[in-house]
Amino acid sequence: MSNKKAIITGIEAFLPEYILTNDEISTMVETTDEWIMSRIGVKERRILKEDGLGTSHLGAEAVKKLLAKTGTKPEEIDIVLCATVTPDMMFPATANIICDKVGIVNAWGYDINAGCSGFLFSFATVASFIESGLAKKVVLVTGERMSSITNYQDRTTCPLFGDAAVAMLIEPTEDLSLGLQDSILHVDGIGRQFLYQKAGGSMYPATEETVKNREHFIYQDGQVVFKYAVSRMADVSVEMMEKHNLKAEDIAFLIPHQANMRIIEATGRRMGLTKEKILINIEKFGNTAGTSIPLVLWEFEKKMKKGDTLIFSAFGAGFTWGAMYYKWSYDTK
Ligand SMILES: CC(C)(COP(=O)(O)OP(=O)(O)OC[C@H]1O[C@@H](n2cnc3c(N)ncnc32)[C@H](O)[C@@H]1OP(=O)(O)O)[C@@H](O)C(=O)NCCC(=O)NCCS
Repeated sequence: MSNKKAIITGIEAFLPEYILTNDEISTMVETTDEWIMSRIGVKERRILKEDGLGTSHLGAEAVKKLLAKTGTKPEEIDIVLCATVTPDMMFPATANIICDKVGIVNAWGYDINAGCSGFLFSFATVASFIESGLAKKVVLVTGERMSSITNYQDRTTCPLFGDAAVAMLIEPTEDLSLGLQDSILHVDGIGRQFLYQKAGGSMYPATEETVKNREHFIYQDGQVVFKYAVSRMADVSVEMMEKHNLKAEDIAFLIPHQANMRIIEATGRRMGLTKEKILINIEKFGNTAGTSIPLVLWEFEKKMKKGDTLIFSAFGAGFTWGAMYYKWSYDTK
């Protein structure tokens, strides 16, 4: 047993300015605002339009804001991890590029690819570094330029996704009643048939054919993914409640991955939570993959009080899924 827990001590986000509305999507593919709102729950999403900029741009801007907000010098950071499925390049890691852009010179780091569960998997990794004493100040970046792999000719996927980055400072506390209390994490490779970006890796390197067949974009069998997501996210969240004997009234907020309003509502219902306890911003930002839970934490930071019990819950490509039991560690003025 460690004598430390990992706590988030600061959080900042960077959102590209361009807003892609359902009305604009309706000019690209055959769809309507009404269909997208009723089946998914997204009204608009942010898009990084500028050529030559990738996820590291979003991440570096978020980290600069985080360091200013927390009064941290770049050279104090021990480790930088970046959770992303849209790295700048196959290599080097986007985490390294972010360090260079921000002037973080004493850290090591790497990227984590866990689909839309990216925040859960990377936070669990960071927590083990903190609890073991290996690191004192870790910057965790979750960032996605989902628009770079979204096929804007495919009406079944293009309304879903948006771009964003969030940076969090994670440090140790000796108050064991705060911070990350527990994680339940899973993978099941069956998911690789139903949600993937086929080409561009070592199995299907880029060719004229892969480009012509639009295989560098997200492919999703929406109905299958929906069924898995609904059951796995709800099951693992309820499992976490039972494991720690948590009743609905003990939970201040559920912070779910923002993939689809119907999946979020089903998870909340299974947990017996009232609507006010489920934090949602999918309407404004869409599915930002592993960034969506931190983006909710950032937006609703002021709502959280020290000691609040939070449940984070996600499901994503892989398949990957899981839940975390977290005790919020500060009051925001
Ligand atoms: C993608 C998703 C919103 C589609 O919703 P759905 O209710 O399952 O829709 P279906 O795929 O069954 O399609 C129903 C009909 O709507 C149509 N449709 C699909 N997208 C549409 C759109 N944007 N506008 C209008 N009609 C659309 C389909 O073509 C289909 O028409 P048909 O019956 O004539 O064939 C839903 O499957 C989903 O949310 N899946 C999980 C997504 C997810 O969470 N992914 C990330 C996991 S991290």
